[in-house]
Amino acid sequence: MEENISNKIDLNKIDISTEPPAEEPARQYYFMAKCREWVRKFEQKSGRLPTACVTTFGCQMNARDSEKLEGILETVGYERTDNENADFVIYNTCTVRDNANQKVYGRLGELNGYKRRNPKMKIALCGCMMQEPSVIEKLRKSYSFVDLIFGTHNIYKFAELLCASQEAEGMITDIWENTDKIVENLPAERKFPFKSGINIMFGCNNFCSYCIVPYVRGRERSREPEDILREIRGLVADGVVEVMLLGQNVNSYGKTLDRPVSFAELLRRVEQIEGLKRIRFMTSHPKDLSDEMIQVMKQSSKICRHLHLPLQSGSTRILERMNRRYTREQYLDLVQRIRREIPDIAITTDIIVGFPGETAEDLEETIDMVRTVKYDNAFTFIYSRRTGTPAAAMEDQVPAEEVKKGFDRLLKTVQDTARSQVARYQGTVMEALIEEVNVNDSAMVTGRLSNNVVVHIPGDASMIGKLIPVSLDECHGFYYIGHQAGASEGTA
Ligand code: SAH
Ligand code: SF4
Ligand code: F3S
Repeated sequence: MEENISNKIDLNKIDISTEPPAEEPARQYYFMAKCREWVRKFEQKSGRLPTACVTTFGCQMNARDSEKLEGILETVGYERTDNENADFVIYNTCTVRDNANQKVYGRLGELNGYKRRNPKMKIALCGCMMQEPSVIEKLRKSYSFVDLIFGTHNIYKFAELLCASQEAEGMITDIWENTDKIVENLPAERKFPFKSGINIMFGCNNFCSYCIVPYVRGRERSREPEDILREIRGLVADGVVEVMLLGQNVNSYGKTLDRPVSFAELLRRVEQIEGLKRIRFMTSHPKDLSDEMIQVMKQSSKICRHLHLPLQSGSTRILERMNRRYTREQYLDLVQRIRREIPDIAITTDIIVGFPGETAEDLEETIDMVRTVKYDNAFTFIYSRRTGTPAAAMEDQVPAEEVKKGFDRLLKTVQDTARSQVARYQGTVMEALIEEVNVNDSAMVTGRLSNNVVVHIPGDASMIGKLIPVSLDECHGFYYIGHQAGASEGTA
C-alpha cells in the first residue's frame, strides 16, 4: 500500500547507532527504529508487548491526525487498546469550545489514578488545546504527572518525541508557534479499511471572530495536488472506496500553492481515480463556494450528494460581527443556486447561539433561516468564549440563561425540519456503503447513503465496505430501517 510506506521501509535496515538524519521523513523512520528497539527490550523484560491507547477529541482533522499517531505506534510495535489503563496513553485534544477542554482535565485525573498503580505508564497530550500557553501553564502547575506534551505543528515529529519520552523521567514539552512545513509519507493506521480522511490543507486564514482554530492550527497551507492524488491512489489500491477530503475551508484549497490549483480542479482530478467510488469533503465556507464547484459537483458521479455549509447565524448583523463575510441574503442565494443545479442534495450546517450582542430578533432570523433552507441536519452550539479571539473581548456577552432558552427553541426547529427532510426519502431505493455490524443488533448492518443519512438493514460482516442498493422502508427520525434491494456492486 502506497500510503503506509513504512511497509516498504524496513526499519531493521536503519542503523540506529549512527546520528539521526536531518531530513524528513527519514529522521522519523530512524526514531521509529529506535522506538522499536525499546519495545523489543520491554517485551523481553515483561513477557508482553507494551499497550497504547489513543483518545481523540474534536473534529475529523484530529481523527485523521490520530490515525497517524496510531500508524507510528503500530509500526514500532505497541499493541493497540481502547482501554486507557495502558502503558502509553495519548489524548489528541480539541479546544474549539471550553467543554472540550474541561473533559480533558477531568479525564486526566482518572489517568493519574492508573499511573499510580503503573508508575512506568506514560501520559501524552497533543493537539489544538496544547497550542494555548495558558493550558501549558496549568498542566505544568497542576498536572505534572503528564510525560509528553506537543502541539499541532510538530505532530509529524511524534516518533522522535515518543523515543525521547520512553527514555526520559519528567515532563517533555515541545510546542511550536507556527510552521510552514508539511511532512509527507509517514505511516497511518486507518480506523475503517474501506474509507479514509485525507488532509488536503492545514490551518485557517479566516479568523471568524469567535473561533480559536486559526490560532491553534496556524496559517492556511495546502498540500501539493500530486501528493494528495498519490495518497488517494495508494488508499484505493489498499481497498478504500470512499474518501473525505479534509480542511477547515476546502473551497480555498490551493490558493497558496506555488502553482495554484482550485478545489474544483482538485475534485476533477480525484474523480478520475479508478476504483474510487465516493468523494466527500469538509468543510465548505459559504463565502468561497464557487459556481465552478457547483458544476463539478453536479457533473460528478462520485461526489456525494451532501454539502456541509456552516451558517453560524441567520442574522446579517451578527454574521458581520462574526467576520463571516457573507450576508443572510448571499447565503440564501447560494443555497438556491446549489438546489437548482443539484435538487437531490442534502445540506447540513453548524449554528452558534449566544454570540455576543445576539438579540431575540437575531435568533428569530436564524430560526427562520433553518425553516427556509430546510437543513437535513444541523449541529447547534452554545457560544463559548475563547480567550484571545476578538469576540471574547466584545462587551455585550449574552447571559447563560437567555442563551439556554434560545438554544432549546432553535434545537426544536432544527429537529422538526431535519425529521421531515430525512423522511422525504421514504420508500425509495438508494445505494448505501455498509460500514459496520449494528452495535445493538448483530443481525443488522449499518450503512451510509450518499446524502449522509444512516440506514440499518439485515445483514452480516461480509457486507462491510460494499455499496449495496437498499430500500428505505421506515424512517425513524434521523435514520432508516431498510432492506437490501439488489446485488452489491461488483457481484452478479
Ligand atoms: N472550519 C469550519 C468549522 C470548524 S469548527 C467552518 O468554518 O465551517 C466547527 C464548528 O464549531 C463551527 O462551524 C462553529 O459552529 C463551532 N464553533 C467554533 N468556535 C466556536 C465557539 N467559540 N463557540 C461555539 N461554537 C464554536
Ligand atoms: Fe474557525 Fe472560521 Fe476558520 Fe472555520 S473558517 S476554522 S469557523 S476561523
Ligand atoms: Fe477542535 Fe482543533 Fe478541530 S480545536 S475542532 S480539533 S481543528
